[in-house]
Amino acid sequence: MPPDENEIARAVALLQAGELVALPTETVYGLAADAANPVAVRRIFAAKGRPVDHPLIVHLAGAGCLDRWARDIPSLAWELAEAFWPGPLTLVLKRTPAVPTAVTGGQETVGVRVPGHPLALALLRAYAAAGGGLGGMCGLAAPSANRFGRISPTDAAHVREELGDKVRLILDGGRCQVGIESTIVDLSRDGALPPRLLRPGRITPEQIAAVIGVWPEAPQPPSAETAPRVSGSLEAHYAPATPMRLVPSARLAEVIGILRATERRCAVLCHSELADATAPHALVSLPVDPQRYARALYAALRELDQTAADLIVVEEIPATPEWAAVADRLRRAACGAGLPADSLNRP
Ligand code: TXA
Ligand code: MG
Repeated sequence: MPPDENEIARAVALLQAGELVALPTETVYGLAADAANPVAVRRIFAAKGRPVDHPLIVHLAGAGCLDRWARDIPSLAWELAEAFWPGPLTLVLKRTPAVPTAVTGGQETVGVRVPGHPLALALLRAYAAAGGGLGGMCGLAAPSANRFGRISPTDAAHVREELGDKVRLILDGGRCQVGIESTIVDLSRDGALPPRLLRPGRITPEQIAAVIGVWPEAPQPPSAETAPRVSGSLEAHYAPATPMRLVPSARLAEVIGILRATERRCAVLCHSELADATAPHALVSLPVDPQRYARALYAALRELDQTAADLIVVEEIPATPEWAAVADRLRRAACGAGLPADSLNRP
């Protein structure tokens, strides 16, 4: 479906006026505002209920406007941009003085990416053609369009559920193809240090190493120092409101049986076949393929979260590198599940 010109023009006008617009990306839906306008950016934090020290990703129409946002850009960053943009890779770089503090959570770095969804790109291009917002910076700050700590939206209906009353326009670009958030690589450290993976995603360390010849350092365990830098680096995130537990395949039927015997309603997310007799209260079965699993994961968690179950039971996925990004999201979802939103990610 070609992007609707009128909708895009409306979105551009709202963004120029400092309003919020939800937009599809290839990873998840984002809640966008003019990244150069601190008032507009603060509206994002208010709508999401997100702590103000959590930095936002700036979305650009192309690498051509990168130097408005980042300085001292290392050659590795250009190589990665060339290889993966438009696409699900965010680069963390040293920021220019023009970047509002509201976007960076007060840090000296900025996260940037060029999204791969045709509608997001069409909007970013139209936005640039219309002057690019304050200072002609041409960047849209867009975190995932969910309330803080909750499951990221992968279609327009999810955004309506999460933030419908808080956003003037939701651009509908159908189902997100990747389904989990972008890979984040930090290239802002001293040039002698290897890039660091801050959040795993569809673009794998192996793919990154194939382009730049260096493996990114693995994500660091959360600490007081790194915690505010990547909200995904905090333990409780991407979480359903229903408590959730990961269970090995071999124990799945037994655990469901125990829950049934004690009259607790259980909703199951699995990838292997369940015996008929197991019969949980609700069931979603996903493909045993990490990319297809990731694409459907958040919609599945959202669906199971709405079945009034006492527990969401998730069959553990294979412990292999291809599953690393999905494993990361499942672990964090289980950690934050069932907790009230305002207790998430508070040390
Ligand atoms: O796929 C995505 O990246 C989606 C779509 C909408 O583009 N966006 C997204 O945004 O996941 P959000 O705000 O939900 O997550 C952005 C992550 C946060 O964990 C944030 O801390 C991290 O990016 N981040 C942004 N700027 C950063 C910086 N300067 N240093 C370290 N981490 C940064
Ligand atoms: Mg998010």
